[in-house]
Amino acid sequence: MVVSAVQGLLRTAMLTVRRGLGLSVQLHTEDRRVLEQMILPEYARRTDIARILFVGCAAYTQRYGELFGAREYWTIDPVARRSRYGSRHHIVDQLQNLGRHVPSAYFDLIICNGVLGWGLNAPEDADVAFAACLTHLRAGGDLMLGWNNIAPRNRVLPDDITALGRFDRVKFGPAQTTRWVVDGANRHVFDFYQKLVGAPRNRFK
Ligand SMILES: C[S@@+](CC[C@H](N)C(=O)[O-])C[C@H]1O[C@@H](n2cnc3c(N)ncnc32)[C@H](O)[C@@H]1O
Repeated sequence: MVVSAVQGLLRTAMLTVRRGLGLSVQLHTEDRRVLEQMILPEYARRTDIARILFVGCAAYTQRYGELFGAREYWTIDPVARRSRYGSRHHIVDQLQNLGRHVPSAYFDLIICNGVLGWGLNAPEDADVAFAACLTHLRAGGDLMLGWNNIAPRNRVLPDDITALGRFDRVKFGPAQTTRWVVDGANRHVFDFYQKLVGAPRNRFK
């Protein structure tokens, strides 16, 4: 647990120094490569995705919106200073409070990577946050959840979050898998969900 916290601090410090020196702030891990080179481009190729929400901002996620061209790309993060990494449509708030900012069924895709276990830590909060995702995705919309299956980041497991049980699991990309486990120290996992077509809209409000 301590090791993981120290690693997080070191990563932030390293990225801050690199940013100050005008150097690249990309992360060179296998899960980041899978996200940036496979998962995000695959979603970007889809013509049924026009409104995207990316949850949790960092220097290395700042350019992800470019992959989606002229489409409506939103970001959300509760930490005000992280708005510098956000998109033109940026919300300073927790995912749990999404309903304060957009109507129901607004998004076609929500990407929530590295947030569960990195601030979204309590089971009740995670349940409210993913219930908000369900409310604010259109019927048939997609939720991609990326998380580290390593202590202490995995203290709340997706399979134990009630709201996630109300989504369909959907097979994604060339691998056609509902759960993509990446080899590496983080034991990073990508889970793919879809809001049921015909699901009632304000079920969790
Ligand atoms: C480790 S960073 C992950 C950044 C990015 N999403 C990624 O792909 O790596 C975690 C971010 O999630 C944000 N965060 C924590 N709790 C949150 C919540 N309840 N709703 C939205 N963002 C949250 C933090 O402020 C932080 O910027």
